[in-house]
Amino acid sequence: MSRVLAHGQLLRYSRGERGYTAKFEAKLAEKIGVDHVLTVNSGTNALITSLAAAGVGPGDEVLVPAYTWVSSALAPLAVGAVPVLVNINDSLTIDPAEIERRITPQTKAIIPVHMLNRPCDMDAIMEIARRHNLVVVEDACQSVGVEYKGRRLGSIGDMAAFSFNHFKNLTSGEGGAVLTNDERLFVRARMYHDPGSFIRGHERSNEPLFSAMNFKVSELTGAVLHAQLSRLDPLLERMRARYPLMASAFEGVEYCRISPHSDPDNAVALSVIFDTAEQAKAFAEARGVERLIDTDRHVFTNWEAVLTKRAFHPKMNPHNWAAREIDYSAEQYETTLDILARTCRIALGAQFPIAIMRQRQKALRRAVLAISSRG
Ligand SMILES: Cc1ncc(COP(=O)(O)O)c(C=O)c1O
Repeated sequence: MSRVLAHGQLLRYSRGERGYTAKFEAKLAEKIGVDHVLTVNSGTNALITSLAAAGVGPGDEVLVPAYTWVSSALAPLAVGAVPVLVNINDSLTIDPAEIERRITPQTKAIIPVHMLNRPCDMDAIMEIARRHNLVVVEDACQSVGVEYKGRRLGSIGDMAAFSFNHFKNLTSGEGGAVLTNDERLFVRARMYHDPGSFIRGHERSNEPLFSAMNFKVSELTGAVLHAQLSRLDPLLERMRARYPLMASAFEGVEYCRISPHSDPDNAVALSVIFDTAEQAKAFAEARGVERLIDTDRHVFTNWEAVLTKRAFHPKMNPHNWAAREIDYSAEQYETTLDILARTCRIALGAQFPIAIMRQRQKALRRAVLAISSRG
């Protein structure tokens, strides 16, 4: 970063392929296993850019899980489409069977969200998408680097979005990336994220120029990400190493079970689902435990702007262009609310030495057994 400040070239395109942002993109593309990475200034804008690149727009419906950060639902609205919410299943990710039920002639895309470092059932989702000719934009904002059946998340759908905000596996404070193997989608994404793309001298493409946003990053962000990238795999390795230890706290407990995982051999996240919401609530008092319904910002019932269908200007409201009235009533999503009320997430403590996590494991064991004795 100090080198970037010293040479004063803060525009990411000034130094071409020698720039830190370009070098970071090449390294990240190799690590994740995709042909193209485009760094942008947030995960939200990575989702918006992906949808715009894929040609999603007014009149289209986009399937989004009812449990995610609100940005997954705001991104379709930003390109003029409407989000249609889909229940999750016990894996805490979008339920493929529910996707099938929510598809209409207007459905154009699915945004499977890999929540809490937990992969969606991508085999089932890709099969449905191909059968219905739908675009898949993986929202891997919360799962950068995580594997699913030997592939990294973000390399499976048509496009993917990463977030590099303060809370993520790889961070530059704010930031994000668009990933794709499709050359045309990449060219369109690069065009959409930069109003100055017509003066950049990128290699020629047949894609006609269209109007754009400015979602570029500066070289300062690129330099931070470039420096952070080598820390990603060791972080994930520490999570993987702590998983069996922390999971063992729940062995033989009859009234709870480990949440199903789409690729259990690669799990870097641990959640437990109880028989009742009361048991989950009591267990959430233990250190390093969080009941998901209490992390309210990720629950659709709190997405006021989505639920009230308000836009910054009434004539720019995507719901005016939708083919039908979209119903966001909570009754349709009771399955999601019930799962979130009964599920607790257990911190794997990647930042702590394993000795501390052994003590935490014992404390969790005591806490979960105490619930049984309460009756
Ligand atoms: C699942 C999910 N999608 C999208 C985003 C948006 O990312 P950003 O905050 O970088 O805009 C986040 C960020 O928290 C997220 O968790």
